[in-house]
Amino acid sequence: MPESLSIPVLRGPVPLAHLLLHNFVRDGDLAIDATCGNGHDTVLLARLIGADGHLFGFDIQPQAIIETSRRLADADLAKRTTLLLTSHERVAEHVTRPVQVVLFNLGYLPGGDRSIITHPESTVVALVQSLQLLAPGGVVLVTIYPGHYGGAEEQFSVDNWAAGLDPRAFFSWRMGQTNVRTDAPYLLLVQKAP
Ligand SMILES: C[S@@+](CC[C@H](N)C(=O)[O-])C[C@H]1O[C@@H](n2cnc3c(N)ncnc32)[C@H](O)[C@@H]1O
Repeated sequence: MPESLSIPVLRGPVPLAHLLLHNFVRDGDLAIDATCGNGHDTVLLARLIGADGHLFGFDIQPQAIIETSRRLADADLAKRTTLLLTSHERVAEHVTRPVQVVLFNLGYLPGGDRSIITHPESTVVALVQSLQLLAPGGVVLVTIYPGHYGGAEEQFSVDNWAAGLDPRAFFSWRMGQTNVRTDAPYLLLVQKAP
């Protein structure tokens, strides 16, 4: 079945984030993957922005940048992307034009070193910069994992940041499956008012 006709299976927040990306990202957009990891989200974003778009991808682990770069090359999407081996705290140094979407998938690299995780201090700095970079109507999507070591602290910081945003300037949403453990991952969406 072609991808456009297949039914999305909403097992967890990542497929929900992907469903929303299909709605918010258009041909020619500028996009950011703030946590490339194994590159699955990066490849989807790079597809959605089309040949005229551009994507900036960030990760602090060489292993993640290498794997993401390989996946992009395999999908023939490398030309429309810039990968940066640096913290997303430095996003505003590297991206200076308005972006349509910034994607965060927090926590540790699946299959990698589980002690290397995203941290609330740097995550919130990157989120603040991301909102400044957003085009009107653009969105920041954040998958939050409260269940791992350090996850609850990050959840607390990110939730507080999102709840404190001016509702005239930003629409902040929290979306999570209810028939799961209370520390299951969930999705946060912040849209800049058009
Ligand atoms: C859950 S994984 C991302 C999964 C990825 N989006 C995918 O599709 O495979 C989280 C990633 O965040 C990265 N990370 C941790 N701290 C970071 C930081 N300050 N800046 C950028 N990336 C960071 C980790 O190295 C890890 O690869």
